[in-house]
Amino acid sequence: MQIEKRIIIFLSGVAIISGCSDPAKIPLASGAVAVHSPVWLEPGSDDFHADKVAGPNSELEQCRQCHGADLSGGIAEASCAKCHAHPDGWLVAEAPEFHATVIAADNHDLSGCEKCHGAHFSDGIFPADCSRCHVHPAGPEACNTCHGNFPGNPDNLADVVPDKGAHEVHLEHFGDIENTCASCHAIPATVGAAGHLDNTPGAEVNIQGNARFAVLARTITNEGQNQPAPTFDHQTETCANTYCHGDWKLAKARSNSSWNYAADHIEGNAATPGWDDPASAACGTCHALPPVGHNPSEISGCAGCHGATIDDTGNIIDESKHINGKVNLFGQEYDMF
Ligand code: HEC
Ligand code: HEC
Ligand code: HEC
Ligand code: HEC
Ligand code: HEC
Ligand code: HEC
Ligand code: HEC
Ligand code: HEC
Repeated sequence: MQIEKRIIIFLSGVAIISGCSDPAKIPLASGAVAVHSPVWLEPGSDDFHADKVAGPNSELEQCRQCHGADLSGGIAEASCAKCHAHPDGWLVAEAPEFHATVIAADNHDLSGCEKCHGAHFSDGIFPADCSRCHVHPAGPEACNTCHGNFPGNPDNLADVVPDKGAHEVHLEHFGDIENTCASCHAIPATVGAAGHLDNTPGAEVNIQGNARFAVLARTITNEGQNQPAPTFDHQTETCANTYCHGDWKLAKARSNSSWNYAADHIEGNAATPGWDDPASAACGTCHALPPVGHNPSEISGCAGCHGATIDDTGNIIDESKHINGKVNLFGQEYDMF
């Protein structure tokens, strides 16, 4: 520390005396003096070099005088990149050390980059031009950098949603993309928003909010007694307790069409579909065909009474009338009860 300070003072003295502002002309016998503290390279020590270039009192401009304006060596003939260069394949998409691959394997953590590249990768110690490839205004922090369609539009949630699991079927069924996403997730305003990137692996799935399809998933039936509380289990990757997947019951006692009940209730299957398992949400999984407690019917017969929803080959003909929280019967539509 002492030695380093003296040399810096000495050097600025030389520059003033000779009237020379070009550090390259400053005579320096490389290796002749131990310029820096012996613990200069030890993280945690009082004189760790990284601490000298961090924060508001950064001495970076002094480093540049000896190590070169771009820190590639200068009169010190010591380049920072000797220790700090990234691996050769850092920008080569096929390489195992491609930056995207390395970052993804590290839980997409960009917080450490800041120390060298600055906040939002601008004005860092080491200049980097991410915008050569990350062309959106937010650069690498654009919403479709880590998930979604990389060349797409980061302001469009359809290009942000990962092409994984049951996303596509949910978006196709419900449409209204903003509301659909918000039904299962909080949408972060920025990468750094609380709850977005965190230490718990996997996405936060929360079906508790007021977005339209989250409300649908909690539709109350059975005269107020059946109150679904949807959950997502990261271990098994399954959903449970959703109205949509069959957590509902209709009471014969309350029905105006009790003649069609074979039991006290007509009810769904309260299924636990797997996010990556389309078969677990196939026709017949959310409710039997027809549902438990319903008088028997062939699949070709449903249309006779539920004709707004289904045709006589068993195909859903109007998605907006199916899984909408309503009974569709004999051309009428009324709330599940
Ligand atoms: C007065 C000129 C001078 C200044 C100012 C200076 N350095 Fe150095 N630095 C050198 C010289 C000469 C060496 C090589 C000799 C040595 O290791 O002591 C060196 C070596 C280093 C090394 C070790 C390199 C290696 O290969 O072991 C690091 C790290 C380093 N400097 C960082 C910095 C940082 C960070 C700053 C600014 C806070 C800085 N230096 C300021 C002259 C300077
Ligand atoms: C001889 C090797 C060496 C050289 C040369 C070197 N450093 Fe370092 N630097 C290190 C080590 C070791 C660390 C600690 C790495 C760690 O904690 O993972 C470090 C950490 C840093 C960090 C903090 C990064 C982080 O992730 O915490 C900064 C900033 C930094 N160095 C700046 C510089 C600058 C500026 C120069 C050139 C003037 C330079 N270093 C030259 C070895 C070096
Ligand atoms: C310890 C300092 C240090 C840290 C931490 C660091 N970098 Fe760098 N980065 C450098 C240096 C030095 C260069 C220039 C030399 C090189 O390309 O290897 C560079 C260059 C790059 C480049 C090439 C830029 C261009 O315009 O060609 C990319 C991309 C990059 N870094 C990404 C990252 C990312 C992402 C992180 C965090 C995961 C990160 N860096 C963390 C020091 C660092
Ligand atoms: C030479 C082109 C190029 C440069 C320069 C570049 N990147 Fe990338 N980067 C890519 C490509 C291509 C991808 C996407 C890979 C994919 O998912 O298809 C990517 C992906 C990423 C990802 C996503 C990783 C994840 O978690 O999935 C991050 C973060 C990232 N880059 C950060 C940076 C930063 C920071 C810089 C500048 C310091 C930078 N990149 C410079 C080409 C580049
Ligand atoms: C640096 C990579 C990266 C960038 C950039 C990024 N995300 Fe994410 N995002 C992730 C990862 C990784 C997860 C999974 C959550 C986890 O691991 O904690 C995630 C999860 C999500 C989720 C699921 C809910 C949650 O929080 O877990 C949504 C929604 C989301 N991101 C939207 C966005 C939006 C909107 C932006 C732009 C403002 C964005 N992401 C930018 C990496 C990124
Ligand atoms: C029906 C609920 C549901 C809807 C609607 C939904 N997601 Fe997801 N999302 C999930 C589940 C479940 C996961 C996987 C969680 C896990 O395994 O960690 C997930 C994971 C994610 C991830 C993290 C991916 C990763 O790599 O870890 C992102 C990002 C994401 N969703 C964004 C979106 C966006 C954007 C939308 C709207 C276009 C959306 N989601 C709509 C349930 C949903
Ligand atoms: C003869 C007419 C009739 C036929 C045929 C029929 N249903 Fe129903 N279905 C009803 C009546 C009546 C109710 C009870 C409505 C109420 O209590 O308000 C009902 C209730 C339901 C319910 C729960 C309430 C709703 O509308 O979502 C489902 C699900 C259902 N039926 C599915 C089917 C399926 C699948 C088939 C064919 C395999 C089928 N039904 C065939 C008359 C019929
Ligand atoms: C993801 C769960 C799910 C799947 C898969 C599913 N249903 Fe349904 N279905 C429901 C729910 C929930 C209802 C209760 C009424 C409502 O909300 O529309 C329902 C109601 C019905 C009704 C009664 C008419 C109505 O709209 O009220 C018929 C008929 C029906 N489904 C047939 C089918 C057929 C045929 C298939 C396969 C092609 C199928 N369902 C697949 C969840 C599902």
